Parts: sequence; C-alpha cells; structure tokens
Amino acid sequence: MAPTTRPYYSSKGLSAVHYDLLTAADKKLSGDLEVYAGLASGPSQILELGAGTGRIALDLAGRGHSVLGLDIAPAMLDQAETKRKALDPETASRLRFKLGDMASLALGETFDLVLCTYFTLAHVPAGAAWKNTFRGVAKHLKPGGLAAFHLPVEERMREPPPPSDKPVFLHALEGGGHVALYILEHGYNPKLGRMDLVLDFVTRAAPGAVATHSHERLTYYLADPVPFAEAAGLQVAMAPIDINGVGAIHVFCKL
Ligand SMILES: C[S@@+](CC[C@H](N)C(=O)[O-])C[C@H]1O[C@@H](n2cnc3c(N)ncnc32)[C@H](O)[C@@H]1O
Repeated sequence: MAPTTRPYYSSKGLSAVHYDLLTAADKKLSGDLEVYAGLASGPSQILELGAGTGRIALDLAGRGHSVLGLDIAPAMLDQAETKRKALDPETASRLRFKLGDMASLALGETFDLVLCTYFTLAHVPAGAAWKNTFRGVAKHLKPGGLAAFHLPVEERMREPPPPSDKPVFLHALEGGGHVALYILEHGYNPKLGRMDLVLDFVTRAAPGAVATHSHERLTYYLADPVPFAEAAGLQVAMAPIDINGVGAIHVFCKL
C-alpha cells in the first residue's frame, strides 16, 4: 500500500529530518549566505522568515548579528534550537527561534534586515498570504532597513522533471544504507504560477534492509514580488541578485 502523502516539513515526515543533508548538497543555494551577510551593514538586528533548521540564522549570529528566526514547522525549529544550544554562550544569546506564520507577523520589535530565504515566500499562495507577509515585513522594518526574498526563476519551473525512477539525491549512510529522494509527481501550471510536487524520501539502514518511504507534497507559488512590496510601502533597492540561474534574491527597502 502506498504511504499517505504528508505536507512537506511535517513532524512525521522525512523532509525535515533530512533537510540539512539535502541543503548541504544543493547547488541551487551556493553563495546565498554571502549575499545575506553582505546586506547587513555592521552588527544588525535581523529577522529571518522561514528560518527552518537555522542554516542562515546560525551563520549570521556567528558573524555578530542578532537574529530572530521564525518558522511555522516545529520539526524544523526543534533542530534549529538544538543547534543553538550547542553554540558558544555569547553567539547563542544573539539568536532566538520562534514558532509563527510569516503571513501574520506581530513581533512587537523592528529590524534592520528581514530575510525570506530559499524560496520560503513561494511556499504560500501569491495572493493574500504574500500581501500580508509584505505588509508585516514593512511594519517590522526600521526606516532605511532592507528586506530580501529569494524566489525561484519561473523559466526553470517549466523544465521537465527527471524520470520518477531516478533519484535526484542519493546519500550513502554509514553501515552501507542510504537516503534517496525521488520526484514522484511534478506539475507546473504557468497560468496560476503554481508548481505541485510529490516527493518520495527513501531511507534504507543497510543494504537489503526494508526501505522507509515518506511521500511528501511540496507546492511552490510564483509571482512578481514587486507589486506586493510596493503596495506595502517598500521600494526596489537594487536589481535582483542571480543565485545560480535557478533563483534570484529580490531586495526592497523601507525609506
Ligand atoms: C526551504 S525552507 C528554508 C529554511 C532556511 N531558511 C534555509 O534557507 O535553509 C522553507 C521554510 O519555510 C517555512 N515556512 C513555510 N511557510 C511558512 C510560513 N507561512 N511562515 C513561516 N515559515 C514558513 C518551512 O517550515 C521551512 O522551514
């Protein structure tokens, strides 16, 4: 019997468990950290929306910034918090993680820089959720502050997927097992700017051992972020920054 299809990053699935393994090997992301670090001028108060397992937030705290990482998925934030506790006390004290929805921000503080990294905005529909996210970001930025959104490039979404029997990721585990990722279903609707994926995370503890499957649904919503940002009172700060031809970081400022 096929396993139940869960939402991505859910507590019972494997996408959250293997998130760090996958992103460490993800060429789509190479160089993104340096872009975010370059947007902070001097020690800054930074808010990261969709902070996940802390990939960006931990790095920025290590560079001397104070970072609040917000995320909607406990399975991701639990990992971030475990890593925070293992940091030296001074760096750990500059870093906080909080459970919450970026589309209903009410944090009671303002920031020099707001980051919405690795396609996080594309996880929510490009209508009311984007509108509310940009509004919240504008409200939580200090005057002169910057907000950066990493979004997928639309043309790349139109490309055909690899065959469903070929892993798009394969990682050997100690003891001879492996973690593999397959794209089972893939559909892009250009009119709606919506991509639907069903992924199969397969873990085998040792050669010949029974495989554990986790089928997980991931949806990306694409749109031009500029009208949403402008409607929230933000202005385009610079040309979008290309990230490996697959994504671009759109940077806005609050005057
Ligand atoms: C691709 S991961 C990015 C994690 C991390 N920022 C990074 O760059 O590695 C996207 C994250 O966005 C979170 N997310 C999705 N929708 C969200 C929402 N409405 N509010 C807050 N976080 C959200 C997910 O739980 C997930 O951890």
